Amino acid sequence: MSALTWTDSLALQQPHIDRTHQEFVELLNALAAVAETADPLPAFDALFAHTEAHFAMEESWMAQTGFAPENCHSRQHQMVLELLREVRGCAVDQGEWEPLRRLVPALAEWFPQHAEMMDAALVFTMQQLGFDPDAPRPLAEPTAAGCGGSSCA
Ligand SMILES: [Fe+2]
Ligand SMILES: [Fe+2]
Repeated sequence: MSALTWTDSLALQQPHIDRTHQEFVELLNALAAVAETADPLPAFDALFAHTEAHFAMEESWMAQTGFAPENCHSRQHQMVLELLREVRGCAVDQGEWEPLRRLVPALAEWFPQHAEMMDAALVFTMQQLGFDPDAPRPLAEPTAAGCGGSSCA
């Protein structure tokens, strides 16, 4: 069974981010398919590597559009990556696979909220500034204290 289904409601109308998010959903579902098997690690590592690149892409856009280096969107990325590191360590170093299995529904619940709130705010900021990710800019002076979302000062 799929952990998460891609629907148009998840699309943010930004081709790079939508492709990346579709890949994230596919990799999460690939992990869900093997989570209860003896070796879910390759699928986990594929998701982990993709997530590092996914977040790095968004961080780069934030830096180029004037987000403060410390903002709630970046902090949420850091927390997720830290969780992935910890879960991997539990599995590989201690033979505890349950946290890795529990991660699948947790990520399936987390992702749509993150995309709708924080990634959507980033895309909105990019559109407002006329920022084209295919025409990278030098890093901007930080002008926004938060993530650009309405819930963040
Ligand atoms: Fe994202
Ligand atoms: Fe994000």
